[in-house]
Amino acid sequence: MITQGQSKRLPRRPGIDPAALASPGLDELAAAVRIAVGKRADWQQTAQLVASELERHLPAPSILTAEQRTGDPKTYRSHVLYSEADGSFSIVALVWCPGQVTRIHDHVTWCVFGVIQGMEYEELFTLNREGECLVEAGYSVNRTGDVSGFAPPGDIHRVRNAGDRTAISIHIYGTDVSRIGSSVRRDYDLPVQPASSAA
Ligand SMILES: [Fe+2]
Repeated sequence: MITQGQSKRLPRRPGIDPAALASPGLDELAAAVRIAVGKRADWQQTAQLVASELERHLPAPSILTAEQRTGDPKTYRSHVLYSEADGSFSIVALVWCPGQVTRIHDHVTWCVFGVIQGMEYEELFTLNREGECLVEAGYSVNRTGDVSGFAPPGDIHRVRNAGDRTAISIHIYGTDVSRIGSSVRRDYDLPVQPASSAA
């Protein structure tokens, strides 16, 4: 469930049968995303177009090597699978052991993501008017086959593997993360208030 009010977040797209996930097809996915990004729409529209393509071309875990699919007990792993030559997008796989979690953060650009193994639990936050604390703004349970996305602003979140097996998700970002290092714009080390206590 997503309860965030004014964000540019896309509606979650559940319903792909995990058994129907595409076989390895990174080239096909990249070609479809290239066409979507090439329409040069705004971030929100681009994220929607890319989400539609990721739904159609959501790969199976075998898009990764067996070694890449193995989680690291120390931290979740990030594999850049593809970077467009002009820097307009990149495709990244995240691999999470059970319980691994990001910091609370937001992003430099739009992002579309799909879970291809396991499940991810995503918490959403807003920054209060004074910028002194975060306010809980909802959550989303993203299971295998679900595709979702967002375009800043309104994209502060924290993601964890809340399942009992290694989780894998495919993320498509509107930038070349192999060049800039990360899609993260800022980490938030601020107190968190429940939504009901927000002024
Ligand atoms: Fe994120």
